[in-house]
Amino acid sequence: MSAQLASLHSGQASLVLECRNDGPPLWRHLGAQVEPLDLAPLALGRTPASFSLDEDVPFSTAPPSGLGWFGPTCLALRQSGQRLVPVFAQAEVSQTEQTIRIVLSDPVSGVELVQSIDLLAGGAFCFSAQVSNRGAAAVEVEWLASALFPLAASSAAIVSWHGRHNAELSECTEPMPQQAWVREGRRGISGHGGPPGIVVLNEGASHHAGLVHALQLAWSGDSRIAVERDDEGNWIASAGAVFQPGEVVLGPGESITAPDAILAVSTKGRNGAMAQHHAAMRQRLCWPTGTMRPRPVHLNSWEACYFDHDEDRIVALAQAAAEIGVERFILDDGWFRARNDDRAGLGDWTADPVKYPQGVKPLAERVRAMGMEFGLWVEPEMVNPDSDLYRRHPDWALHLAGRPQPTARNQLVLNLGLPAVRDYLFAALDALLREVPISYLKWDHNRDLAPAGGQAQVLGTYDLLTRLRAAHPDVEIEGCAGGGGRSDAGMVPYVHRFWTSDNIDAVSRVPVQRGFQAFLPPEIMGAHVGASPAHATGRSQSMGFRAAVAMPGHFGVELDPRQLADEDRAELAEWIAFYKSWRHLLHGQSTWLGEGPDGLVWQAAGTAQEFLLFAIQVAPQMNRRPQPLRLPFLADAKSCTIELLRIAGGERGHAAHRPALYDAAQTFSGSWLAHAGLPLPPLKGESVAIFHGRNSA
Ligand code: GLA
Repeated sequence: MSAQLASLHSGQASLVLECRNDGPPLWRHLGAQVEPLDLAPLALGRTPASFSLDEDVPFSTAPPSGLGWFGPTCLALRQSGQRLVPVFAQAEVSQTEQTIRIVLSDPVSGVELVQSIDLLAGGAFCFSAQVSNRGAAAVEVEWLASALFPLAASSAAIVSWHGRHNAELSECTEPMPQQAWVREGRRGISGHGGPPGIVVLNEGASHHAGLVHALQLAWSGDSRIAVERDDEGNWIASAGAVFQPGEVVLGPGESITAPDAILAVSTKGRNGAMAQHHAAMRQRLCWPTGTMRPRPVHLNSWEACYFDHDEDRIVALAQAAAEIGVERFILDDGWFRARNDDRAGLGDWTADPVKYPQGVKPLAERVRAMGMEFGLWVEPEMVNPDSDLYRRHPDWALHLAGRPQPTARNQLVLNLGLPAVRDYLFAALDALLREVPISYLKWDHNRDLAPAGGQAQVLGTYDLLTRLRAAHPDVEIEGCAGGGGRSDAGMVPYVHRFWTSDNIDAVSRVPVQRGFQAFLPPEIMGAHVGASPAHATGRSQSMGFRAAVAMPGHFGVELDPRQLADEDRAELAEWIAFYKSWRHLLHGQSTWLGEGPDGLVWQAAGTAQEFLLFAIQVAPQMNRRPQPLRLPFLADAKSCTIELLRIAGGERGHAAHRPALYDAAQTFSGSWLAHAGLPLPPLKGESVAIFHGRNSA
């Protein structure tokens, strides 16, 4: 007797479900690719277990919580104040090569749950879920998992990220829990810990090999990701948006759709999972012309002059930017009415009459005449109590009647759930974009939400962005929330870049950028050369090290070039030229991350045929001579010619010796590079060796 299966196969991974007519499909496999042949039904292999219900309740896509399933649930409902337990007695499963669609109905309550799993180009699985009320009475949805799935018994560790403003994306690895592991965001935005996501490493998994499950949720608000162990010895992962109590009530005929959850199942280690996520994000990105054009070099005015500017000062800054090769100039905070510090002005999106008496249009035109695009900073979801908008509409800010209304950075959050607020913001931004030749908005969000805005706030923001993108399809948008407080797949369809961190110190940036790239591709990772000493940390680094660390991302400058020594300014211009000549390899291609001996970390970008390799030494080496660097991604290359383009940083102090080996390009076999390793030059602390590799077979 064989089971009736529904399955998806990515080439690396398989997802196998066992279909039943009278209930949700059972999970059979989610791991390395398998050939199920005529698999016997799960029931045949399961014997009764003591102190268990007489009728077996194995793990399904929608297990009956409250009626025999004691593990995590995909759905929690209430009706008339009572818990509503849906029993999905009817199930229809349909499938193509790319999609499994499961329609589950509960004839008693009228609740319908539609789950779908899509196999995306690139190999990731995309889970989505929709619950509908087909009954006669209202139903409250307390929880709707985007995904609920099994993890392999060989799971060994969970990698996740946490962070704060100026210290985003700090990676931590924890062993699999004996009870439960939870990452719950309650700040109203995805937060400085990065996208809501986890990476589960199976035994022996590394950057380059082994089984890895990596999940990210396409959601920018509160979320919950959990890994729980049940008493059968399984680990079960769940992920979904968190709703406020009473927030989601479905009247008859109404539905709610959970945000997508994207799951990479890789047998090629973390880099394989990262590649699947990058591919999935590239499918969600909406470039103005449909395809990404080379990412232009930015100069962002914030750390160059903060709030202290006017037209003349900005024109001079823009001129200096144009001279070193900048292609897009962004006027940051401080340009609008009464905005001389962070105490006033948010909400009133017209130019400050003192700083910009003719508005920002003449400035934008002058910037464009210099050959650069013009971008402008806005923070639409916010309002200062000291603003005309707040004086007119105090009730538009999120508040709870009779409770305190805490400010942060002297600002409150507008209630984007209110159509009138969205209409006001659309009209204000639309007018600005019509009047001024703006090709880029930096869209900021500088605080956590208190009180909470719930999912209505997130959906309201998405709606506003959708309207604006439709009205101004050529305008690119940068997502920012005090640096990387809202860099997530939920925002990806609306933006074209994220500001990764307000901390531009290159030493701090190395781990932050590696964390960012676990889920999001480098072409949307804002990476700037900042001042030295760095404003966020006070630490000083050479121009070369700062530029080389920023190089793999979407490159930019966050300083006033006129304040640089002539030598540094010339060097920065030269790095900008370097970026322009290599960005075709850095973006839209593959990325590999790895670790070498003696604290070295590396990143390669491009293809296995042609790539740039960055070998980054942050702290001074302890070994007398550098150990070779193994590059497993080249294992299949027949032969590879490698040129040491430059060593960035470490110029000061004792002379650094460059090995004669690299006076000319060197050819190695792929197996040598993968298993014996690339000879490295000695690297001082805070330096980066940049190599160009080309498959020469
Ligand atoms: C946030 C951003 C900065 C800058 C300031 C302006 O902190 O991350 O880049 O735009 O706001 O107030």
